[in-house]
Amino acid sequence: MNVLECRDLTKIYGKVVAVKNVSLGIGKGQTKVIFGPSGSGKSTLLRCLGLLEKPTSGTIYFNGIDVYTTKQDLNKLRAKIGFVFQEPSLFRHLTALGNVVLGLKHVLGYSEDEARRKAMEALKLVKMEDWANYYPAQLSGGQQQRVGIARAIAMDPEIILFDEPTAALDVELKWEVISVMKDLADRGTTMLVATHELRFAKEVADEMIFMDQGEIIEIGTPEQFFRSPMTERARKFMAKLLG
Ligand SMILES: Nc1ncnc2c1ncn2[C@@H]1O[C@H](COP(=O)(O)OP(=O)(O)OP(=O)(O)O)[C@@H](O)[C@H]1O
Ligand SMILES: [Mg+2]
Repeated sequence: MNVLECRDLTKIYGKVVAVKNVSLGIGKGQTKVIFGPSGSGKSTLLRCLGLLEKPTSGTIYFNGIDVYTTKQDLNKLRAKIGFVFQEPSLFRHLTALGNVVLGLKHVLGYSEDEARRKAMEALKLVKMEDWANYYPAQLSGGQQQRVGIARAIAMDPEIILFDEPTAALDVELKWEVISVMKDLADRGTTMLVATHELRFAKEVADEMIFMDQGEIIEIGTPEQFFRSPMTERARKFMAKLLG
């Protein structure tokens, strides 16, 4: 059974069809990569799957349960879905540790001690334990993003959605974030990642999903996409990314 799945998901903003009839599923332990040109609907799709926005039509299943028609407690479900955005948006007045502790205490109800212990574990996983008491302003963009990832994994989500987590980073800083994401994938974390980091896709993706103009144009293994995409659009886009 898929942890998260959508069927015929469509999201329309005014006259813009941001996502059109998209169906996909992510199984436990899988890593899937979504890629495609700017405006192709990647973020919209992730926001819908993360239950941050309601689709115009279509169905979303969380562990096989239809989220919207069965009147689930959305906040409870949202707590089981981690989200990492392009910008980590950490609270400036809280340390790295404080940022990770917050959700553990206030959403999951951990005691201060338990929350701090769990937060430190998560910071270790992203190799930020030595920076626990630093404030965001004292951290590089890549380090801040790793704290953002720690904040997501500390909550023990069943899946983590990443929306271009390295797009705002300099080339040198990208790799430290990607390397942490690769570790997570290797540990069996279930992940759906919008990214154009082809090396990450090649090394860890079970499947790549190419979107254009709101639609899924092609789904395949990294090997297929690197060797011979089936569609002209995917071929052109891969060629552009590979420069
Ligand atoms: N809140 C919104 N209101 C109106 N239109 C929106 C909204 N969010 C997205 N759109 C439109 O939906 C389409 C898909 O946008 P989306 O941000 O999902 O694409 P994307 O693939 O994530 O692009 P990028 O690579 O630039 O992040 C675009 O035409 C965009 O302008
Ligand atoms: Mg986007």
